[in-house]
Amino acid sequence: MSRAVGAPSAGRTARHNGRVAQHVAALPPSGIRKFFDLVLGVPDVVSLGVGEPDFSTPWNIREQAIYRIETGRTAYTSNHGLMDLREALARWLANRYGLDYDPATEMLITVGASEAIDLALRALLNPGDEVLVLEPCYVSYKPTVALAGGVPVPVPTHQRDGFRPDFAALEAAVTGRTRALIINYPNNPTGATFGPEDLARLQRLAETHDLVVISDEIYAELTYDKRHHSLPALPGMKERTILVSGFSKAHAMTGWRLGYACAPRDLLEAMVKIHQYTMLCAPTLSQYAGLEALEHSDEDVAAMREEYDMRRRLIVTGLNSLGLKTLLPEGAFYAFADITPTGLTSEQFCAELLRAEKVAVVPGGAFGECGEGFFRASYAAGFDRIETALERIGRFLGR
Ligand SMILES: Cc1ncc(COP(=O)(O)O)c(C=O)c1O
Repeated sequence: MSRAVGAPSAGRTARHNGRVAQHVAALPPSGIRKFFDLVLGVPDVVSLGVGEPDFSTPWNIREQAIYRIETGRTAYTSNHGLMDLREALARWLANRYGLDYDPATEMLITVGASEAIDLALRALLNPGDEVLVLEPCYVSYKPTVALAGGVPVPVPTHQRDGFRPDFAALEAAVTGRTRALIINYPNNPTGATFGPEDLARLQRLAETHDLVVISDEIYAELTYDKRHHSLPALPGMKERTILVSGFSKAHAMTGWRLGYACAPRDLLEAMVKIHQYTMLCAPTLSQYAGLEALEHSDEDVAAMREEYDMRRRLIVTGLNSLGLKTLLPEGAFYAFADITPTGLTSEQFCAELLRAEKVAVVPGGAFGECGEGFFRASYAAGFDRIETALERIGRFLGR
């Protein structure tokens, strides 16, 4: 007798096979996760692996959240987020980057920048729409595009070009299905950032092909030496940009899960529609903490940035002197080192380094095919840890 798929007597294992949606089952596991499963349980590891600050959230921000608990501010906020926070953010974005967003209709407070990226893609994409993704890039972009029903189209960047966009390659990747482009600057994992010239060319590309740009500027406040230029501040770009950012990195607030999106009204409305059904609102206490962060934490952010700046020079000088070519990152807190002289793949290098010298760094291949031949080392770690790691990497290379 024939039986319907998944009928009860098909047996437990057989029934459970195939009950995960195909597009989810097809997603590869995160290259970082896979690698960190190896790290777990290895004692005395010096980890330059994780992409989060080693600082605690500044005290005034933590205190603000405590105060809000004490005074019982524990209910939902508006779906868009606290109006006070949106207004403060609008002022802050205007002062810092010359942006002009209406807190009522063009801004949404999200559960980290992660949710903002997800909402942007889900609001934009029809099934099969293509999204250009400049690689190497943050590990979540391609899976998030796929989960939104889109098709990620990676476009490589290279160390020889300072990891700047290759505009010929971008042009060549555009098809009739291309809807959007995701950029991230300063970049995780390369530390490269884009200046006015790169942004002007990105604008021409977006206008020529009528693309929306998702601009992930979460590391903007961790830009060294130069000024950060925000894409939607370019005349004409606000209309085709979804700006994504958050408090995780510069304010050392990863665990608070607080981010935001700024977008033209039609796109923001669509994003809010998804957000209100799936998330309701970002965590209320975190929103109050975010308000405090914007209004009273500039000095703390500057102090952390100065510290990262010193560590960046230490790690980059160290890696280059070991023969691993590493560009000086212009922002964020990652050094991206070329290991091709070793002849090892990035996974082999990182697994061997971990086994032999107990140093954890992330294989470059986790950030896209063109990241192969590199590793990412985070310098959101103290001086002694960086020094120990460099010493151990030197010993490893010497073998
Ligand atoms: C480029 C980039 N975008 C977004 C995120 C996620 O940030 P959030 O903690 O705000 O979700 C990260 C975290 O590593 C990141 O590196």
